[in-house]
Amino acid sequence: MAVKPVIYGQSDRPPRGDYAQAREDYTCDQQHSTYTAQDHSTYARLYARQQALLPGLACQGFIDSLPLLGATDTIPRFEDINARLLPATGWQLVGVPGLIPEVPFFTLLSERKFPVTNWIRTPAEFDYIVEPDLFHDLFGHVPLLFDASYADHIQAYGKGALKAHALEHGPAQITGAVEMLSRLYWYTIEFGLLREGGQCRAYGAGILSSSGELAHSIRSPEPARLPLQTPADLLHCMASRYKIDTYQNPYFVIDSFDALLALTAPDFTPYYRQLQVAAA
Ligand code: PHE
Ligand code: FE
Repeated sequence: MAVKPVIYGQSDRPPRGDYAQAREDYTCDQQHSTYTAQDHSTYARLYARQQALLPGLACQGFIDSLPLLGATDTIPRFEDINARLLPATGWQLVGVPGLIPEVPFFTLLSERKFPVTNWIRTPAEFDYIVEPDLFHDLFGHVPLLFDASYADHIQAYGKGALKAHALEHGPAQITGAVEMLSRLYWYTIEFGLLREGGQCRAYGAGILSSSGELAHSIRSPEPARLPLQTPADLLHCMASRYKIDTYQNPYFVIDSFDALLALTAPDFTPYYRQLQVAAA
């Protein structure tokens, strides 16, 4: 059953993935046998470059779990990663043709299924691609799914986002709830920093899969690095708009995944109401 493609931001480009292959829940097979020698080589080269950049910049949990992705010189099979991931934290990878709509995306996360794009960028896009591809999804997000607290947080986010969607579209009509939560996702799961031994280290997938932003996020004097510890910080984060095509400013810094889990555990409904009033 064909589903509609999703395009990131405003764009004239046609969608990249083959949405005709997708099931009703937007998942599709990885189709590992269709990768070309060039696809495997792109992955191997991206992996090698990025791995060499990690020391002193990526958080330790990420560095420790990265080898669990398996193959480094070819694109790994999702099923091989699942054989390790499922017993470790109960998560599994599912293929998707690219970006998928909000509700199917949140639903998969709430079921501990992580959607991974099944195509990889072209050599011309080696240094930068706006939309997430297989390398971003796999290298950036999946190693930390082996961390129990991070893994629990992503599922809680999926459930919380379904709730936010219901609040927005149900009788409560809290406008912008999903947008507020997507900002939190952006500043944590995609571009978050973690305080480790007094130093900032990256745990956000958008940083970890970027050759330029990894060092920039940790070492550049330019961006603000704001704490994400208190409910007031959380509200500030959810009120902060972001750009998808430049290095981030500000970054938000957490103390641990357990602290993030605790900070986001309360019912967000009053937060959404407060921010809705502030935005009006
Ligand atoms: N606890 C939040 C709520 O009840 C949901 C949430 C969980 C949001 C985890 C972000 C991360 O609405
Ligand atoms: Fe991502």
